This record gives sequence, C-alpha cells and structure tokens, in this order.
Amino acid sequence: MLTISGLGVTYGGLRALTGVSLEVREGEFVTLVGPNGAGKTTLLKAISGTVTAAEGRIAYRGRDLGRMRASERAALGIAHVPEGRRVFATLSVMENLELGSYRRAARAHRAQALETVLELFPLLRARRAQLAGSLSGGEQQMLALGRGLMAQPDLLLLDEPSQGLGPRIVEQIFETIDRIRRERRLTILLVEQRVVEALELCDRGYVLETGRVVLDGGREALLADTRVQRAYLGG
Ligand SMILES: Nc1ncnc2c1ncn2[C@@H]1O[C@H](COP(=O)(O)OP(=O)(O)O)[C@@H](O)[C@H]1O
Ligand SMILES: [Mg+2]
Repeated sequence: MLTISGLGVTYGGLRALTGVSLEVREGEFVTLVGPNGAGKTTLLKAISGTVTAAEGRIAYRGRDLGRMRASERAALGIAHVPEGRRVFATLSVMENLELGSYRRAARAHRAQALETVLELFPLLRARRAQLAGSLSGGEQQMLALGRGLMAQPDLLLLDEPSQGLGPRIVEQIFETIDRIRRERRLTILLVEQRVVEALELCDRGYVLETGRVVLDGGREALLADTRVQRAYLGG
C-alpha cells in the first residue's frame, strides 16, 4: 500500500532522514519506534506532504506522491494525526470532529463516521458540546484521533499519541488504537517513543535512530532482539 524507498529529508543543511526504506501493506499495523529526534515526525510529514523529500520515492497504492500537495494526499485517503494533540481549543468537541470530515468522500458518510467515533470514545459523546480547550490532555488526544477517523482514511498516520500523557491514559489510548485496528479495515503506521508498548501492538516494526532505519522485523522478533532489549527494555 505504502512503499518508501531511499527517502532523504533535510532542513536547511541539517539532515533529518537518510536512505529510509519502509513498507506498509494493506491492512497492516506497522510501528516505527525510536528516540526523540530520530526523525519519526519528519517521516510522517514526508508521507502526508508537509515536508518535501530531498531524495527517494514515496508510493501509495502505486502512485508517486512526490509532487502531490498535502491536500491531494489527504483526498487519496491518507490521514495524519500530528504529535502534540493539536485540537482547535476554541471550538467544541463536535465542531472539531466535523472538521475532520472535510474530504469529499468522507462528507457523504459524515453521520455514520460520527456515530462510529462517538462509540469508540464515549467520553467525547458526553463532552460533545464542551470546548476542546477545556478537555484534559488524554481527552484531547482522543479528540485528535477521532478527528483523524472522521476523514474515514484508508491509511492512518499516528504521531506519538502517548506524548506527555500518564501511563493509565496511554494504556487506554493504545487499547483504543488496537480496537480501531481490529474492528475496522484500516492500515496504520504508528510512530512512537514508547518502544515496548508500541511494538506490542504492531504486526511489524522498524527502529529508527538518527534518521536511519537500523532494524526491522516482525513483532516477536523485534521484542526478542538483544539490541532492542539492551537499548529500550533495560535487558
Ligand atoms: N522544522 C525543522 N527545522 C529544522 N530542524 C528540524 C525541524 N523539524 C525537525 N528538525 C530536526 O530534525 C531531526 C528529526 O526531528 P523529528 O522528525 O521531529 O524527530 P522525532 O519525531 O523522532 O523526535 C531533529 O534533529 C530535529 O531537531
Ligand atoms: Mg516527533
């Protein structure tokens, strides 16, 4: 579904990604883990079209995304839930969700999508008239996720949904992501700094360090890998 080969991104003179190759198949849950500054956010931005690749190729369902604008990529069914749970603080929960269904294909099924999202997040239903800015951090993350789902994407890009949240909320959010994946035909690429929890969710994973993929493999293989254990599991 998504094939990235030899991707390089630079910010001015600074290199953020070098020779990154990665594949996400239809229906798969792929996780990319790595420490702060590794280039995870940059990779998602290159896919959704908010940063430009200096080298390499990104293909989605056989189409080269290279010269496409972000809005065109969204129209093809790619939704990006950015890091830092960006919600519109002065709009209500409902208004935030409605903004997620801007793409033409999604507008037609807005009511149905809304019902699905509110069912996944009963908390958002209870708070639907409340201003997004008055929600807790965890609730805002749920709203950001819900807004991404309102676009009814085929490929969901999730950037560190756990960022800055306490362990109980993180567990809840990861459980919901797992549920979304099991109940809907959705392909997910999740990037995370919480290496173990994120790897446990995925089918396959990649480890990114200073802009390069240093390791990849199936869930069990990665969790058992001595390099992963030494670096991230304190093993
Ligand atoms: N807009 C930007 N301008 C300049 N450098 C940036 C910018 N965004 C990210 N970087 C740099 O690129 C590298 C990768 O950043 P990022 O993709 O945000 O990593 P991660 O999401 O893994 O923490 C870091 O060294 C970061 O400082
Ligand atoms: Mg990041």
